[in-house]
Amino acid sequence: TNALTVLGIESSCDDTAAAVVRLSDSGADILSSIVKGQNDLHAAYGGVVPEIAARAHVEKLDTCIEEALTVAQVELKDINTIAVTAGPGLIGGVLSGVMCAKGISAASGIPLVGVNHLAGHALTPRLTDNIAYPYVMLLVSGGHCQLLLVSDCNTFRRLGGTIDDAPGEAFDKTARILGLPQPGGPLVERDATKGDATRFAFPRPLLDRPGCDMSFSGLKTAVIRARDTVVADKGGLSTQDRADLCAGFQDAVADVLAEKTRRALQEVAAELGENTVLTVAGGVASNTRIRAKLEAVSSAFGAVFVAPPLSLCTDNAAMIAYAGGEQFRAGSVDDMSLSARPRWPL
Ligand code: KG4
Ligand code: ZN
Repeated sequence: TNALTVLGIESSCDDTAAAVVRLSDSGADILSSIVKGQNDLHAAYGGVVPEIAARAHVEKLDTCIEEALTVAQVELKDINTIAVTAGPGLIGGVLSGVMCAKGISAASGIPLVGVNHLAGHALTPRLTDNIAYPYVMLLVSGGHCQLLLVSDCNTFRRLGGTIDDAPGEAFDKTARILGLPQPGGPLVERDATKGDATRFAFPRPLLDRPGCDMSFSGLKTAVIRARDTVVADKGGLSTQDRADLCAGFQDAVADVLAEKTRRALQEVAAELGENTVLTVAGGVASNTRIRAKLEAVSSAFGAVFVAPPLSLCTDNAAMIAYAGGEQFRAGSVDDMSLSARPRWPL
């Protein structure tokens, strides 16, 4: 009776995505979730090129949306709300999505909701596991690093976050320093499994300071220094050297994330009450070592640890459809004045 079928559109970084999600009284169902990546387009440049990303979004959005409707076996007339990422992100990509969503909304009369990309990530545990508010979320991706207390679909309290690089960015830079291709996070993890994390003494930035803020740019410098020392010593990096560097770096990131998350849980323990839930999202949350340390922190707290499946941890449009659906139900609606916001704190 209370079902709401939402078309979600996401184009804020280097993935073009569309999805159909149905919200009902008992939870949410993903009817389709299409993600078209662009790694092949950016690989040669060693990172995402905004102009190339924007053009690819424009080219892919229409077919992506058509595919999402087809797979979901719905037609546009069955859609109750269009949810589109309105920021934060690369302005060209966000604009492509917003203009596309406005076009469909204007032509069909279906109401439009602009969604904050970070709210999409932060609400994903409700989409996948029907988690009740409030809960703590560690959002760790290539562009973001935040610890949040999520109290409802519009209320996010920032408990801490990075003061410089995001952890995914640090993984990617470390990969580059060690001669691995982009995006480097998964490759650093792969090599780290064969490495000795204790060989290099990498710092644990900001652990000596109270609070939940983090810093990862110093680790990158430490990796460069360690690499240069090995190279000066032996004339090059062996496979084992690289594995040891990856393992040491990964453990340093994992330790910082785990300890800061522990403090965040402690800080809001009274507000969380008995049903303490720790959730994660973002590409870095797929890292097995990091997940294991977070799970340990969580269980030491008696908290339940919820990590959405990888395909919903990374950028996708199902999370945007879901967040837009919840926000629409709570009264949010936008019109043709909806603008794309490159910066948009939660
Ligand atoms: O959430 P995401 O797909 O995109 C955004 O940044 O929004 O995250 C991508 C980031 C990249 O920096 C990538 O290197 C990192 O997540 N990443 C990983 C792993 N898989 C992806 N970092 C560490 N370990 C991994 N297994
Ligand atoms: Zn993201």
